Amino acid sequence: MRPLTLLERLGNDKDKDKDKKKRSERKITNPLDHINLPDDVQMPGQSPETVSGNQNYSQIQQQKKNETRIEASAFAGRHSNISQNDSIQQLKLAIHRRIVDEMTPQEEKLLLQGESAREQIKNVISAYSSREISESSQILTRGERLQLVDDICNELLGLGPLEPLLKDESVTEIMVNGPKDIFIEQNGNLELTDIRFYDETHLMNIIERILHPIGRRVDESSPLVDARLADGSRVNIIIPPLSLVGPAVTIRKFSKNALSMNDLIKFGTLNENMVKFLEACIKARLNILVSGGTGSGKTTTLNALSSFIPEDERIITIEDAAELRLQQKHVVSLESRPANLEGSGEITIRDLVRNALRMRPNRIIVGEVRSGEALDMLQAMNTGHDGSLTTAHANTPRDSLSRLETMVLMTGMDMPVKAIRTQISSAIDLILQQSRIRDGSRKITHITEVQGMEGETIILQDLFKYVQDYIDDNGKSIGHFEATRLQPNFMDKFHMNGVELPVSLFR
Ligand SMILES: Nc1ncnc2c1ncn2[C@@H]1O[C@H](COP(=O)(O)OP(=O)(O)OP(=O)(O)O)[C@@H](O)[C@H]1O
Ligand SMILES: [Mg+2]
Repeated sequence: MRPLTLLERLGNDKDKDKDKKKRSERKITNPLDHINLPDDVQMPGQSPETVSGNQNYSQIQQQKKNETRIEASAFAGRHSNISQNDSIQQLKLAIHRRIVDEMTPQEEKLLLQGESAREQIKNVISAYSSREISESSQILTRGERLQLVDDICNELLGLGPLEPLLKDESVTEIMVNGPKDIFIEQNGNLELTDIRFYDETHLMNIIERILHPIGRRVDESSPLVDARLADGSRVNIIIPPLSLVGPAVTIRKFSKNALSMNDLIKFGTLNENMVKFLEACIKARLNILVSGGTGSGKTTTLNALSSFIPEDERIITIEDAAELRLQQKHVVSLESRPANLEGSGEITIRDLVRNALRMRPNRIIVGEVRSGEALDMLQAMNTGHDGSLTTAHANTPRDSLSRLETMVLMTGMDMPVKAIRTQISSAIDLILQQSRIRDGSRKITHITEVQGMEGETIILQDLFKYVQDYIDDNGKSIGHFEATRLQPNFMDKFHMNGVELPVSLFR
């Protein structure tokens, strides 16, 4: 699908009616389109002959522009709870409208270049802003002026109010609950921001801008969608009538630098002994399940673990939206695909796991198991594809086993529970339980060995765990990691694979 040109976004095509039709078909609108202008306001491209009276054309133009500005201001005024100062908001809309009205052909050309000419476009916006500011005799600080120009530029080129949050590297997650409540996760903590969309239409425009370049759409007939931004960030969008708070957007930002095991040690997610142990487990080709709640850091840990896979192995990664970033050269990354609008063409994680088995893998890494693929994954682990890694959503190691059991049952296989548990216990060697604890930090709370079956029960044995001593005055969890002093039953696998592991690690 062709990306929208800037002029189309601005709605400044000469053939306004045609463009309007085109835009409404695409459901993409000028950021200001939802400001309803009075019927008699003449828009650029309208014929001057339609205006009657004694005034000359330029006088009428000027008058109409003033009306437009008043209307734009009235719009901003109606939204009195817009976070920034109201008068700046009015000014922003007036400048925006002025650019649409007065743009020269050269400027049009420049604007058409879009993101690649951002700096020059900023200069143009800056010039229009200066004129508008001096005419409106508003006094703005230098900082406010720069912010104003940036905001308008973001409205025209980027994702509007979301743009500064996307640029801020300390923001790791953005959660939009309708146009007025935008939360972020920063330094592990959830916070409500004072950023707002004008209204639902404005938010929907930005959503369309996220989806249009990747050829996806969201509307009443398909009101939820998973997508990825150009920078790799993961986005989920769900709109009314399914969402009762208005359109909801959740963005898991793609951090430029994936966290390494050393970073995780620095953040206090685990300690050095645990890392040494995990490195040995990966080299000894143990099958590992990373279990944790949503946003607990499962994918991050999986990625860090994968760095211990030797260079000479062929790795196949399978994900819904590719988030893993492996350092090795010999990696084939596969991504599942949702059904198209006609409901066909879906390729599931399960299809990909089955296909991966025919691709001569040394290791299979599945980003997350959620349903039937768990069965294929367990079978693969039990039939020579050891050293495989995956994650699952669960709150304790024991819980992760029940989750796997449920996932296997979801395939519709008529298998006795004991047989499923036997499969699970012989496939999975180790469970890493990760949690996001109350202070926002992430901890590997358990490294647990899956020992085997006793009757109908799978036997689990903790090897390392996080012990919280107390919560300090700032609400921070103070604790330590400790080894349970038990050696795993799979010590022989280390010897078999030539991996040295000092037993002192377990003391
Ligand atoms: N050990 C850590 N310490 C601090 N922050 C972390 C840690 N691991 C991950 N994060 C941050 O937490 C967020 C979620 O991480 P990640 O995507 O790995 O979680 P997840 O459990 O896979 O989430 P989901 O269930 O949504 O797939 C990211 O923004 C990431 O930067
Ligand atoms: Mg994940």
